[in-house]
Amino acid sequence: MLTRRFLISTTALLATLPAAAHAQSGAPAPAAARASSPDGVLSVEVSVTGEGRADYTVTRLGRTVIAPSRLGFLLTDAPKLERNFTVTADAPTSHDDTWEQPWGEKRFIRNRYTQLRVHLTERNAPNRRLDVVFRLYDDGLGFRYEVPEQPNMTTVNIAAELTEFAVADAGTAWWIPAFEWNREEYLYNRTRIDAVGVAQTPLTVRTDDGLHVSIHEAALTDYSGMNLRRVEGGRFKAALTPGLTNAAVQLTAPFRTPWRTIQIADNAADLLTSSLILNLNEPNALGDVSWFKPMKYVGVWWEMHLDTKSWASGPKHGATTENVIKHIDFAAAHGFGGVLVEGWNKGWDGDWFGNGWDYSFTETYPDFDIERIATYARSKGVEIIGHHETGGNAFHYEQQMDAGFALYQRLGWHSVKTGYVADAGGARVRGPDGSPQLAWHESQPMAQHHLRVVRAAARHQVAVNAHEPFKDTGLRRTYPNMISREGARGMEFSAWGQPGNPPEHELNLVFTRLLAGPMDYTPGIFGMKTRAPDGIATTWAKQLALYVTIYSPIVMAADLLENYEANPGPFKFIKDVVTDWSDTRVLNGEVGDFVTIARKDRNSDQWFLGAMTDEHPRVLDAPLSFLDPGRRYRAEIYRDAPDAHWKTNREAIVIEAREVTAADTLNLRLAPGGGQAIRFVPLGRGRRA
Ligand code: NOJ
Ligand code: CA
Repeated sequence: MLTRRFLISTTALLATLPAAAHAQSGAPAPAAARASSPDGVLSVEVSVTGEGRADYTVTRLGRTVIAPSRLGFLLTDAPKLERNFTVTADAPTSHDDTWEQPWGEKRFIRNRYTQLRVHLTERNAPNRRLDVVFRLYDDGLGFRYEVPEQPNMTTVNIAAELTEFAVADAGTAWWIPAFEWNREEYLYNRTRIDAVGVAQTPLTVRTDDGLHVSIHEAALTDYSGMNLRRVEGGRFKAALTPGLTNAAVQLTAPFRTPWRTIQIADNAADLLTSSLILNLNEPNALGDVSWFKPMKYVGVWWEMHLDTKSWASGPKHGATTENVIKHIDFAAAHGFGGVLVEGWNKGWDGDWFGNGWDYSFTETYPDFDIERIATYARSKGVEIIGHHETGGNAFHYEQQMDAGFALYQRLGWHSVKTGYVADAGGARVRGPDGSPQLAWHESQPMAQHHLRVVRAAARHQVAVNAHEPFKDTGLRRTYPNMISREGARGMEFSAWGQPGNPPEHELNLVFTRLLAGPMDYTPGIFGMKTRAPDGIATTWAKQLALYVTIYSPIVMAADLLENYEANPGPFKFIKDVVTDWSDTRVLNGEVGDFVTIARKDRNSDQWFLGAMTDEHPRVLDAPLSFLDPGRRYRAEIYRDAPDAHWKTNREAIVIEAREVTAADTLNLRLAPGGGQAIRFVPLGRGRRA
């Protein structure tokens, strides 16, 4: 792992101000501490009210973005940690280094911030202490609570976090509801900020004068997931996911909470290139993970979602030796790295949904010859992607997962797709007495579970792509075998959803869910009639654009093989596109409306571009200044035909090539629900032929 360290210093950037809590109530709260981001774009100020309550305020270029917002905790078994504080702060420190991702949407990431550590100490008994640590970047900030070891606070039972985020200006919000049975799998609401209910994060807002703010969290390892409950106006309060007792979180001091993150940008495009969440995570704890190779894959999958095949055994069984071998042959012939196989293992025959007790992660159905398949796949240079659906039964899974990963390791399979399909009851975890208990998907016990899975998988050189996952908080930096996840409505909803995903769905995802990290969206569907009322609500060109716009190191070519065989023209883009990048540029974008993203192949000088729109047709300018100046490229263009439309004429695609240079600007014409995908192949230096 290459680390270039530019500068680490402990220089005070701004003197901290007199720090004792202000005693006279009613007077304006004096600032106790202040610091600014490296280029002075963002500032945070912590102030203390007369009763010794601590608030933080965030300004950007002198303008308030987050108005005074409360800090603190309610505890189940001790007085709240919320007032009577004396507030002091250390001198701010600065940090600047650059680290390398083993795989990712860009290779090198600069981590440049100012840190401000604020100490909150109760003035009276029990004189408890906690720190709030702020990291200020020019494009956002994170802060977390750190509870040091101390005599009067050992076991900490957190009933609620009092952390607030008071968005100062009015505007529009994009959000999905929290605490609903189907976890993160909801359509996005677009409302005024003051009409949000209880939302999951990332919650993205645009103020009426165009500032973009997204609130989320980073480095959630042993805590419950945070949601946001709107209290009044634009003021949101952290709403922690409940635990197994009346405490949402149980920890022993010393501990640190996840970072609460706030991205702030002038425009929607800049939200997408921020590395705030990754930077706030700890460095790689696994070392060399080169056994995992970013790749595209096909699979025994879409046919189950179309209901022409089944996971369960019987005449419709999809994971037969013959069907898997057909997929291996196809993958080998067309250059795909992997074949996902679902329904290979015992346990699918009863009611597995939210149950999961019947699953075995080592025993196969009799018509799936695992040894023959493994040998055959190896001989063809294709990897099988294993599958562990748990039915949300983490308790049962933990008893077998080591054996399951050991099996994959022996067979040379380096990734697994996990699943936690469950309904209102939630997931099953080991309760304090050792027996299974139901818990929320984003509860602290499930955070612990997902980490145990990823660590156990790493010990067997297996990478994890979780469906119905825990929310992504950037842990892929620390555990780079946490490769991708679902965590939103994926393409499967367009197979059977009532409704399916509408044309704006992917435009909402890019600016909300995707800010958290990679998504296994499973694009590339050409067969557009499905069981969802509107079928697949995109054009073919938009299906191709998704390979660039929705980042994941493993990306599926999700359709039936025969649909690819029948359409070699557009299929060529899926064969050519890569899934590991050295650089990413966002050329334009508006939340929920449109976006154009260009990415450079990590292993060659090719670039790829994806543009997509919601239900409105658009013409977008794409300046090609990202290309190497002085070099000629062949642009292989896959665009909507003039009469293409997501509802009536999805297959209408034009495929053409032209020569371009960095000096050119393309006008991308996108149909309603349409898109455009381009591959740029370097030709040589010098003038155009
Ligand atoms: C839901 C997942 O999102 C889907 O991809 C998978 O096929 C099913 N669960 C079965 O595990
Ligand atoms: Ca799902």
